[in-house]
Amino acid sequence: MFLGCLYFCIRKSYFELTVRFIYDRIVPQLPYILAIESSCDETAAAIVQGGERLVSSVVASQIATHQPYGGVVPELASREHLRNIVPVVHGALEKASMTLDQIDALAVTKGPGLAGALLVGVSYAKALAYATGKPLIAVNHLEGHIHAVLLEQRQAGNHDLQFPVLALVVSGGHTHLYLAEQVGDKEADPLTTHDLQLTAGGKVQPHLSWSYRNIGHTRDDAAGEAFDKVAKLLGLGYPGGPIIDGLARFGDPKAVHFPITQLKHADRRPTGPRKVAVSGARFDFSYSGIKTAVLRYVETHDMLEAIERRRAALLQLRAPVLDDYRRVCDQPTLDLVASFQRAIVDDLVTKTLEAARATATATLLVTGGVAANTELRETFEERAAQDGFPVYFPSRRLSTDNAAMIAAAAYPKWLTKTFADMDVSGEATLPLR
Ligand code: KG4
Ligand code: ZN
Repeated sequence: MFLGCLYFCIRKSYFELTVRFIYDRIVPQLPYILAIESSCDETAAAIVQGGERLVSSVVASQIATHQPYGGVVPELASREHLRNIVPVVHGALEKASMTLDQIDALAVTKGPGLAGALLVGVSYAKALAYATGKPLIAVNHLEGHIHAVLLEQRQAGNHDLQFPVLALVVSGGHTHLYLAEQVGDKEADPLTTHDLQLTAGGKVQPHLSWSYRNIGHTRDDAAGEAFDKVAKLLGLGYPGGPIIDGLARFGDPKAVHFPITQLKHADRRPTGPRKVAVSGARFDFSYSGIKTAVLRYVETHDMLEAIERRRAALLQLRAPVLDDYRRVCDQPTLDLVASFQRAIVDDLVTKTLEAARATATATLLVTGGVAANTELRETFEERAAQDGFPVYFPSRRLSTDNAAMIAAAAYPKWLTKTFADMDVSGEATLPLR
C-alpha cells in the first residue's frame, strides 16, 4: 500500500515535470510571473505564465479573524498578512512544482487598499526581488480585477475581445466604471479626451499597455460595503455579500421598494480619480442611502429583537452554512434581503448599460467581489444581451481578491519593461489611470 502510494507520487511528479519540460520547449518565450496580493483581508500568491496560463494560486482568507467584528479590522489584517505571507508564497511555488529560479518576474499590489496590509506584501515582494535580482512589477489592484477576466478568457481560447472595454469593478471597497483603451492603438489619450464617444476600437492585444478613464464611481459606500453593512445590521455576520446572495432566492424581491439615490450634480471632492477633469455624462453610484433605508425599515417594523436573537444564535455556530442562516430568518427578513439585493443589482446594471450606450462600448467586463453575485450575473447577462453588449465575468474564484489577477495585469508591464524601483511603496488611495 505504502509502496503503491510512493510509486504514484513519483509517477505524478515525473508526469508534471515532463509536461512542464515539453510546455517550456513549446512556449519558451512566455515568462512566469509570481504575484503577491495583500491589499485587504486575503493574503494571496499566484504564478501565471504569459498573462494567460494560471499555473498555481493560493489564497489565505482572513474571514474567520474578522467575522466576530462584522468587518475588516485593519490592524488584525496586517498581523494576519505577516503570519501568512511566507507560507502562501511557498505554497504557490510548491503547487506549481517550481522554484524561485524559474520565475522571470515578481509582481505585487501597490494599492489601493489598507496601508498596513499593502506594506506587508510590498515589503516582502521587494525583499524577494532584491534577493533574487528579478524585476519587480507594481500593479494597481483595480487593474488586477479587470485582468482576472482577460486571464480566464485567454485561457479559454477567447482572444477576440474588442475595445473600447467598459469595466464595472464592484467590490467591498470600490464601485467604479472604467472606460479602457490600449496605449498605442489610438491617437488620443483617453485621459485627456473629453468626448465620451471614443472611436478607437480593435482587438485586445496582450502586448499593449492599458489606460483607463474613470467615468463613474461611488460617492459614498461601495456596493459590497452596502451588502456587508446590511448583513451586519440584520444580524447575519460577515462578509455579507455571499450570505445575502444565498438567502435572497428565498424571498420576494418585490416585497419592499428601496429607491436608490440618483445623483445629478457633479462630484467636487478634490481627491483621487475625481481630479481628472471630465466633461459630459458621469455615471456615479450611491449606496449609503439604501443602508439607512433598511435600518429605518427594521426599526419601524419591530424587527430589532429578532435581529438580536439571530445574531446570538449565529455566534454559537463556528462556521454557519446557508441552511443555518435560512433557519434563523423569518419570511419578512428574507423578503427584505431579496428586495435590498434587487435594488442594488438593478441600479448597477442600469447605470452600467447606460454608460455602455453613451460610450459606444464594444465589450463589457464585470469584476470584483460583488461580481460573484448570482442575481447580478443573471441580470447582466439578460439585459446586456438585449442591448447587444457581450459581457464577461471572472469565475467566482477569481471574482474576489486573488493574486492570479495581479500576475495577469503585470504581464503587459513585463513586456514593456515597466518595472518598479526598489523604493516603491504601497499607496492606499492609488488611482487607476
Ligand atoms: O474584491 P473583494 O474580494 O475585495 C475588495 O477588493 O473589496 O470583494 C469583497 C466584497 C465584500 O464586500 C463581499 O461581501 C462581496 O465582495 N461579495 C459579494 C459576493 N461575494 C463577495 N457580494 C454579493 N454577492 C456575492 N456573492
Ligand atoms: Zn478587490
